[in-house]
Amino acid sequence: MPSLISLFFGTRPQIIKASVLREALAGIGPVMTVDTGQHYDFALHQVHYDQLSIGPPDAFLGVGSGSHARQTGTILEAAERCLHDHPPTLAIVIGDTNSTLACALAAAKARIPVAHVEAGLRAVDFLMAEEINRRCVDAVSTLLFAPSIRAVRALEREGVRGEIHQVGDVAYDVLLRHAERAPAVRTIRGYSPSWGEDYVFVTLHRAELVDHPSRLATVVGALRRLERPVWFAAHPRTHSALESAGITPGCEIAVCEPLGYVEGLAAVRHAAVVVTDSGGLQREAYWLGTPCVTMRNETEWVETVELGANRVVPPERAELELPSAIRRAVQDRAGGRAWDRTAYGGGGAAGRVAEIVAAALGSDRRSR
Ligand code: UD1
Repeated sequence: MPSLISLFFGTRPQIIKASVLREALAGIGPVMTVDTGQHYDFALHQVHYDQLSIGPPDAFLGVGSGSHARQTGTILEAAERCLHDHPPTLAIVIGDTNSTLACALAAAKARIPVAHVEAGLRAVDFLMAEEINRRCVDAVSTLLFAPSIRAVRALEREGVRGEIHQVGDVAYDVLLRHAERAPAVRTIRGYSPSWGEDYVFVTLHRAELVDHPSRLATVVGALRRLERPVWFAAHPRTHSALESAGITPGCEIAVCEPLGYVEGLAAVRHAAVVVTDSGGLQREAYWLGTPCVTMRNETEWVETVELGANRVVPPERAELELPSAIRRAVQDRAGGRAWDRTAYGGGGAAGRVAEIVAAALGSDRRSR
């Protein structure tokens, strides 16, 4: 029987979001899950399958790492073969990675309608890889699932040809479902009981920071000088960048591998502050009530900043601005300042995606 829907993913945050999408879409008809294999280390890949009960993918493309052109091209070819062998009625892609772009392009060029989950996010840096990916994907998508009204407005301004739907954030669905399963923080490898809830939890992985030794050195230097314990869950790319630039985090920073999804929730929830360049962590901190400092020049998750949950500090200014941003964030929290947590909906985004997809496919079938 031909597959009705193909759901494509390939990196850590996409596997996490695919877990709820797969389940919600299963009510419509057969769903073929396709993992490109962009992420493959246990800590970025298998641990999320194990924790979120996604079940093994129906197809694994095994593309791995490479330069942008090589990785995107390899996924494009592999996704095209997959779409040819198992032609779906709709291809669903998530987020803004090279997997998102390549799978959307492969489907669109095969004249298979594309649905984009997390459509309409925009950055000022027009040439950032993720920005190029998401703008191209939004341009070829038939269904655009936006997490916020701001994302809807961005798509409207650009005049995209697909149908735009504000559905909320599927990442919130995952968090709501699994937050109670988060283990006690003291049981997580890498955590030191002497820290209590006074530590700064750090993740950094973006090319704009990690691939620039001087920026990375500035941020690590600023982290070393903080007056609180620093727990740094480092992406393999960051490990290699630190090593090749000869930057040693020193005994002030406890470096560990990326955490599993539920361990990550525990680490964020109990931290005094989160310091990150990850969009996923910015929202998890926002939903869990932990203040965040984003180590970038900008964020696509502008609502978290407007609501007082997030502060943006450019990496070059980390020495000067990171300590005061952390201090202010901690003061706000101690002063009982809380923020509205519904900027990206109140949950149920995956269900809304499924309802809209069901209606779209139903009407497609009727119109044939
Ligand atoms: C990718 C996405 C980024 C997303 C992130 C989520 C692109 C352009 N970037 O960044 O938008 O926020 O995933 O985590 O798609 N590596 C390993 N093991 C792995 C995977 C990667 O060691 O399992 C190393 C390799 O040296 C690789 C490097 O990390 O070259 C970068 O990996 P890549 O998948 O290209 O990008 P990410 O930085 O993970």
